[in-house]
Amino acid sequence: MRLPEHGANSKRLYVSMNIRMPDEVLDFSENCNPAGPPPSVVEAWPTLISTLNSYPDPDGQPFRSAVSLFHQVDEQQVLVGNGAAEILSLLAGSYRGKRVLLIDPTFSEYRATLEVNGAEVVSLQASEAEGFQLPMRQILEALPEADALYICTPNNPTGLLPSKDELLTIIEAAKNSSTDVVLDEAFIDFVDESKSFIPQVANYPNLLIVRSMTKMYAIPGIRLGYIIAHPERIKTLKQRASHWHVNGLAAEIGVLCLQEEAYRQQAILHAQTERLKMAQFLRSQGCEVLDSSANYLVMKPLQDTKKLYTDLLKQGIVLRHSENFRGMDGHWLRIGMKSKPMMATLREAMDQWFKQQ
Ligand SMILES: Cc1ncc(COP(=O)(O)O)c(C=O)c1O
Repeated sequence: MRLPEHGANSKRLYVSMNIRMPDEVLDFSENCNPAGPPPSVVEAWPTLISTLNSYPDPDGQPFRSAVSLFHQVDEQQVLVGNGAAEILSLLAGSYRGKRVLLIDPTFSEYRATLEVNGAEVVSLQASEAEGFQLPMRQILEALPEADALYICTPNNPTGLLPSKDELLTIIEAAKNSSTDVVLDEAFIDFVDESKSFIPQVANYPNLLIVRSMTKMYAIPGIRLGYIIAHPERIKTLKQRASHWHVNGLAAEIGVLCLQEEAYRQQAILHAQTERLKMAQFLRSQGCEVLDSSANYLVMKPLQDTKKLYTDLLKQGIVLRHSENFRGMDGHWLRIGMKSKPMMATLREAMDQWFKQQ
């Protein structure tokens, strides 16, 4: 039986797998910061309600200015969106009838949005045997015939962060063949802002950087993201968006989030610490673990992956399976880094499971 797709919705997962959902469920399948929304957002909540009775700013202000200040880019280079998901849809709309390269395994929404918008999707495979590293030779060969290339950096689900040299080589080659390079930096907040390619947008009109506010600031319900690119590209993408596409509450919350430096540093440290602990534990059990830079990691047990996944599910522990990630074919599991006690519970449950095999 194929496991159902699930995007951070454990209730639906239990129903579709016909497994009774325990009263308490620990969800490691989603990747938001376990700290929850920043304290400044929680404190401002009563005053934020005033945003509800007026139409929002059509350009997503005051968030657009806050992004421009945060990244030291011109406001004309910023388009705010209803989550990075909206940005991906707007982008896909600009590739109708065009050829777009994806590097699998990667975030499934690239293919979904591109196909629905009539783009021709060409999939390049990062091979398991080579540790899912970017297939540089294939990429450089395919670029001249492509209109765009998407790279998720760090990648979801592998957590791998391509090197600066690799990305610069690709972007430079892409510039020569007038190919767009879309870098999805949805999880770069968990690495270090200095690793972002946003400063390179000034040098490369073919470079577009997608960012999400969801993951670092734990605000998946509010829907906020943005793209940074050349002003001309921003202008055309904006034309495809509906008026008032970013709600006023989100635009205010985003400003508060970007001011949260200590919160960000704490989240980076927490993700790093828990990732290392988990990787060490898993390797001690003979599992393969990729060197993730994000707030999740992927692992491959020596034993039956599907059995581990379902046995944990029965105990109320939800991991992310990889059946719909091309090239991982269900052999890997992704684990989001959650609170310290949750991570300890997971290690304990897996320890028991490994002992019983
Ligand atoms: C790599 C990647 N990009 C973009 C998104 C979409 O994020 P948002 O919540 O901002 O729409 C996700 C969500 O899971 C993601 O994993």
